[in-house]
Amino acid sequence: MPLFVAPNSELDALLLSHSIEKGMSLDNPKEVFGEDKALLLLELLSKMEGVCFEYNVSMSILEEYIKSRGYESEKLNNIKSVYKKLKKEKPYKKIPAGIDYISRSEMMRKTQMDLFGFLSSRHDIRKTTDERIKKNEIQKAVTLASLAPSACNRQPWKVYYSMEKEKNIKLGEIVSGNKTFAQDMRYYCAIVLDYRFFANRLDEFRQIYLNAGIFIAYFVLALHFLGIGSCIMQFTGLVEDADKKSRELLNLKKSEQVMVVIGYGKYPEKIKYSKAGRRSADEIMVEF
Ligand SMILES: Cc1cc2nc3c(=O)[nH]c(=O)nc-3n(C[C@H](O)[C@H](O)[C@H](O)COP(=O)(O)O)c2cc1C
Repeated sequence: MPLFVAPNSELDALLLSHSIEKGMSLDNPKEVFGEDKALLLLELLSKMEGVCFEYNVSMSILEEYIKSRGYESEKLNNIKSVYKKLKKEKPYKKIPAGIDYISRSEMMRKTQMDLFGFLSSRHDIRKTTDERIKKNEIQKAVTLASLAPSACNRQPWKVYYSMEKEKNIKLGEIVSGNKTFAQDMRYYCAIVLDYRFFANRLDEFRQIYLNAGIFIAYFVLALHFLGIGSCIMQFTGLVEDADKKSRELLNLKKSEQVMVVIGYGKYPEKIKYSKAGRRSADEIMVEF
């Protein structure tokens, strides 16, 4: 299993462009900020082969950064001309970037829902129906889950899924936590994270697990919203040669690793679940 991977320009571009966008979102950005970072970013982007998400998002952020600057400087002129040249040589797909505003009342209007009802009705279930799930339903769940926050907005996750029954069965066989109900779940997917999104630095230590956990929580909630039940299954890869088996089955890159496998499928008419009582807030809260 990989622990660290070599630095790469995609990661550097993500970190730099995120830092510029973050600067733009501050209440009181410094008058001149981000110029050196923008120049460095443009240098990286010029050397990048092909057009990838990192290129698109970086160029989109640079576009907004240039637009947002209310004053001129020599460096800014330089940034503008390198950006323009690069845009001409290698056009990019515009990705939402920069900053936006929303009023508090509008924000509150959007948040109104029965959150308790929604969250408290999600349970890990261990039997689904045999109904087919359409690819676009999985796509919807992934689109919702990709709203999950990640460190520097890296979005270091992938969802490996298959519409073929055989492959789902095979993925289900790799995990150990479903031995007594493996065939009762119609589908299995793997949440895979890529070490290439994390730098070889102490402050990045364990980041991969934090980011994975947040995405997984969003994903199972999104499935629940779409009428799809699920059960998260732990996957360390350390037992029964599971890491090797997962690499072969999913054809993973060396830098990728399965974080969990999720069994999922349409909710049956009568849903059986364990109550899995929770600790009270008092037990969890620690005043310091
Ligand atoms: C990281 C993680 C790993 C889990 N692994 C398994 C597993 O291997 N097998 C299983 O049946 N359930 C597994 N679960 C499900 C938990 O048992 C379940 O989430 C917990 O009991 C709370 O129940 P609820 O999700 O229905 O509220 C896992 C859950 C998480 C978050």
